[in-house]
Amino acid sequence: MHATRPRATAAGTTAHRWPDLPQIAYGGDYTPEQWPREVWADDIARMHDAGVNLVSIGIFAWGLLEIREGDFDFGWLDEVIEMLHAAGIRVDLGTPTASPPAWFFANHPDARAVTRDGVALGFGARGMVSHSAPAYREASVRIATELAKRYGNHPAVVLWHVHNEYGVPVGEDYSPHAVREWRRWLENRYGSIEALNAAWGTAFWGQHYEQWEHIGAPAAAPSVVNPAQRLDFARFTDDQLLSCFIAERDAIRAHSDRPITTNFMANQHGGVDLWKWAAEVDVVSDDHYLWAADTEAEIGLAIAADLTRSVGGGDPWLLMEHSTSAVNWQPRNIAKRPGEMARNSLSHLGRGADGILFFQWRASRSGAEKFHSAMVPHAGASSRVFREVVDLGAKLGRLAEVRGSRVHADVAILWDFESFWAQDLEWRPSVDLSHDERIRAYYERLWRDGITVDFALPGHDLSGYRLVIAPAQYLLRAADAENLNAYVAGGGVLVSSFFTGVVDEHDAVHAGGFGAPLEPSLGLRVDEHLPLREDEVAGIAFDGETYAADIWQEDLAISGADVRAVYTAGPAAGAPAVTRNVSGDGVGWYVSTRPDAAGLRAIMASVYRDAGLEPAGLPAGVESVVRHGDDADYRVVINHSDETVSLGMSGVDLLTQTTLEGTLVLGGGEVAVVRTSRPQ
Ligand code: GLA
Repeated sequence: MHATRPRATAAGTTAHRWPDLPQIAYGGDYTPEQWPREVWADDIARMHDAGVNLVSIGIFAWGLLEIREGDFDFGWLDEVIEMLHAAGIRVDLGTPTASPPAWFFANHPDARAVTRDGVALGFGARGMVSHSAPAYREASVRIATELAKRYGNHPAVVLWHVHNEYGVPVGEDYSPHAVREWRRWLENRYGSIEALNAAWGTAFWGQHYEQWEHIGAPAAAPSVVNPAQRLDFARFTDDQLLSCFIAERDAIRAHSDRPITTNFMANQHGGVDLWKWAAEVDVVSDDHYLWAADTEAEIGLAIAADLTRSVGGGDPWLLMEHSTSAVNWQPRNIAKRPGEMARNSLSHLGRGADGILFFQWRASRSGAEKFHSAMVPHAGASSRVFREVVDLGAKLGRLAEVRGSRVHADVAILWDFESFWAQDLEWRPSVDLSHDERIRAYYERLWRDGITVDFALPGHDLSGYRLVIAPAQYLLRAADAENLNAYVAGGGVLVSSFFTGVVDEHDAVHAGGFGAPLEPSLGLRVDEHLPLREDEVAGIAFDGETYAADIWQEDLAISGADVRAVYTAGPAAGAPAVTRNVSGDGVGWYVSTRPDAAGLRAIMASVYRDAGLEPAGLPAGVESVVRHGDDADYRVVINHSDETVSLGMSGVDLLTQTTLEGTLVLGGGEVAVVRTSRPQ
């Protein structure tokens, strides 16, 4: 079907640039300001033991760098940077603007962020600032400029780390500064108040506006606030945060040519559209923490890693933070067991990371994060965790040649932040609708089948993919629907899950009804949504077998599709549930319910046949991803199971320097990185 190799989903305009590092990056957030000087020497010695070559410093140190407004004290930072430089450890230098100091809020009480309920946030945690406040914008650019002037050409500084995790803890802000900027943003977006009224559908509930000054932020209200207004406020918030990043970035660029990043959180999509952001950074970096309640958290990790690579257009990326063991902020903070940290690290690397960093180097004795694990835990260098940190450093030290190699995928799953923001608003047909859950279900199927996935936007050039899956594309712009239809007509295979193609960019239902924009591909529209009751389990009959299916059914109005499964129970009993439609040279599948894992497996087996895909046939619990280099391929294999497994493979395991002649034997929990010669 597709002769050419799939292309990465190019994200944007910035050409990514990797920092000057001799190895795979290895290290973590380093906070010497929390420790007496005697500990600094011990830190350096231990970093040497562990093979650490990059540390992130200064991220939360504003209060110790600018003592009073405009009064800087860089003495201690000079010392730290010189000490690291002398030890050959490179620096990722933070701008501390995620957490302004006490004096800032004392001098500018109006610069505090305000919640949707009208609470002005207090000092004593971190964040709490209004990103629209002029005083914050001025102060953050000032400290970034001072840092860049002082350290911008220092040989130890190879990377800039602007701010920290934009969007948390403060994303949406309802302060007067935000409202002023919001009105400006709306005028700019719509040009006329009539256009805004039309886009927001303000004829509904008498919300018509005559003046920009009458438009407020969508603060807490007696009932559900206009969803188009809320969706625009989410876009505005993202733009405000991004403009703060760009202001700092450009202030640094005026004095330093070192690459600049800010750390994303790919597994949380609260408020930041990473497709846009990835186009503005020199290095895409991500923070990832396992969700401890998930007994197969490695699948969630793989989603985050593949998404990070995808937003960066396939370029190598940096794992800026993960944990050596437990975090401290989940309901039950489950410690990682022996080998798990290495497996997690290698999963990220296999999915395109050229650097593995942790939060943090040394566990803090004081403060809110003292129960968070670290590379040097409270138990010190004789601990199991530190021994594994040293071992991981040695392993990564053997992988320098993997740097720069790239992951190719034949399958793309659509991931559209705007659609998620819209779907998450109130008064949807069922509380059981979850984009995360649907994406995980489809992704999990592919993960178990050893098929590598990219994520993409529905407007991207998808022509290089054999299969595109839309598990949760509730909001679908008309132009993007046309792109998907052209993809299918041109020979692609599309699988669409339910509640897709429902609204346009203003959260208005598409003319023609649910799913109408995808009718050319799917050969149907959706007549009516039929959510199921809590715990109600219906079923589908597919290829002679019956499978459980729950939460949702639909009445489909079929205009051309073949019926592949019917409902066996529930409100649509006897009616079509799963369809397949031939459109041009391609195929569009529609799955109008949530089948159980066996049902989805059966459906996807048929989809794979249409797309010319084969499951890799991996033993259960084994993850395997290939990175393609200029001269060799690198197969990263991770055994998440407790069983010893054998896989057919020849090459050299770079971790053990063993030559494999046909078989890789991997013990329970073990990892391998095999350089394979490329098939001729
Ligand atoms: C985030 C932050 C870090 C730290 C970790 C703890 O990722 O960026 O400063 O709080 O969480 O898991």
